[in-house]
Amino acid sequence: MAEDLNIVSGTKREQYENLLPQIDALTTYETDLVANLANVAAALKEQFGWLWVGFYMVRGDELVLGPFQGPVACTRIHKGKGVCGTAWAQAETLIVPDVEKFPGHIACSSASRSEIVVPIVRNGEIVGVLDVDSVEPAAFDEVDAGYLERIVALLTWS
Ligand code: SME
Repeated sequence: MAEDLNIVSGTKREQYENLLPQIDALTTYETDLVANLANVAAALKEQFGWLWVGFYMVRGDELVLGPFQGPVACTRIHKGKGVCGTAWAQAETLIVPDVEKFPGHIACSSASRSEIVVPIVRNGEIVGVLDVDSVEPAAFDEVDAGYLERIVALLTWS
């Protein structure tokens, strides 16, 4: 496919619907995980303009920073800590409308106001999380959760 992403305006659903097949096309024929995570982070950042989009990978009892787009971030997060470690421990997508009200939130960037973290499950095990931060309060809802879960399901994790 062409390397340029086709970006659209419109509703959140319309933006995701336009992006999904492009992410599928970008990742289907590439087997390298880092390459695919890097392009997914870039595609989401380019379409939505969020503050930070990226991946943390499970390494033992920690999450370790993976490919991302945005300001530099903390490199290691223990299971159960912060939004990412809590989403991992609870094995569920977490939507945080106000990061200052989330106990133990890890502030990688002081500009972040809201966040969503989507666990990535393979063979019943969580292998990583997709983390997205916005400068807008309450930027994420169930629409984001549904589409971001579909996007991470497209990835072959090996
Ligand atoms: N806020 C996250 C830490 C990662 S940064 O947002 C990139 C957390 O509380 O787990």
